[in-house]
Amino acid sequence: MRILAIETSCDETSLALVDNGRTVVSMDTASQELYHRAFGGVVPEIAARRHLEVFYPTLKACLTKGVAASLSAEKTIQNASSSNKQHNYNHKEYNLKALSSHRDAYLTVLKNTIDAIAVTTHPGLIGSLFVGTNAAKSLAYLLEKPLIGVSHLKAHFYSLVMTGKITFPYLGLLVSGGHTILALVKTPLELEVLGSTLDDACGECFDKIARALELPYPGGAAIEELARTGDETYFTYPIFRPQQNKLSRYRYAFSYSGLKTAVIHNSPRYLTTPYHTDFNWDTLKPHIAASFQKAALTQLVEQTLAAARELGITQIGICGGVAANKYLKTLFNKAHLPKKKNNLAPANLTYVTPPLELCTDNAAMIGGIAYHYYLAGAVCENIFDLTPTAKSFKRDLVL
Ligand code: KG4
Ligand code: ZN
Repeated sequence: MRILAIETSCDETSLALVDNGRTVVSMDTASQELYHRAFGGVVPEIAARRHLEVFYPTLKACLTKGVAASLSAEKTIQNASSSNKQHNYNHKEYNLKALSSHRDAYLTVLKNTIDAIAVTTHPGLIGSLFVGTNAAKSLAYLLEKPLIGVSHLKAHFYSLVMTGKITFPYLGLLVSGGHTILALVKTPLELEVLGSTLDDACGECFDKIARALELPYPGGAAIEELARTGDETYFTYPIFRPQQNKLSRYRYAFSYSGLKTAVIHNSPRYLTTPYHTDFNWDTLKPHIAASFQKAALTQLVEQTLAAARELGITQIGICGGVAANKYLKTLFNKAHLPKKKNNLAPANLTYVTPPLELCTDNAAMIGGIAYHYYLAGAVCENIFDLTPTAKSFKRDLVL
């Protein structure tokens, strides 16, 4: 079964063709990073407008990569796309005349090769979600295909299964710019949330600290890079440790606002006052980055390993943008060394991280999990009823 998947929940416009929940036939993702960099974070209205601009070229590139070769429409489509550089779409190139001349070829490709359309419905920025869901509804109506609304969070956890390196049940740790969630993943659609952040998300905290250190957005990778030359013991920042009381529903929770405040009070911007002019910031910044990174990632490791021990789970999957951080894996490995005193976790743990293109927001994971929604009969009865929702609640998280 081939699914055309659409992801527009934040600042990536991504389309993919995915077969039987596993095989990514093609994917095209347009990133908006450069559009938001000047603001140090994602600006919702800019994100929505940009999705609108790049949706069609991204769809076209995805189809061209994926199905053109096997179809008679091949030539027309490849010609139509030859001027279309990936990730650098200019909507002004697409006038109505050009669009109409290739429309039939694209519709034929879509109608003949896909079995269903899937789209992220929640959570996310509402304007961004509107663009993707409206496009999905229009395509489903036009092509007379089933429409499947998908949870972005369940899809992130499912991206781990698509690596082929993890089996159910596993402990999933989703760490991105918007979410920090630890869950016991029992099946693609059945997840038990063990803990989530009580305030900021881990990636969001990396981005805020990066801004204080005058690093470009998004800041996670830049902090990791800077931390390599710093001393992680230079500053002692607070590490959030919830009470390990079995009766507490927050025992696997995370928190980043305290750490953020502590680090920002160390930042050049905050300390450049008449009293602190003698600091050499260029020397201090790597130490701030390294000490922050250690504190931010340690709570992820501690809570995850404590849950692994309590539940007797030996497979841990880490997904979301922060999973790209190599030091996180080093910390996990250090923490469960068999001879370590007060060892937190079972000895035979395995860690799985998806490749980068499946860690960050992508349509492949949407198409992957949509197959399981389809098998479970979770398909829209009336496509016009499909409605996006911005929120999933932080404490009583709705996946
Ligand atoms: O999953 P993602 O691409 O988007 C969503 O937020 O859904 O995650 C982006 C987040 C950003 O906050 C970024 O700073 C963080 O992932 N990130 C990292 C690293 N690479 C990306 N954080 C720490 N270390 C990294 N190497
Ligand atoms: Zn995401």
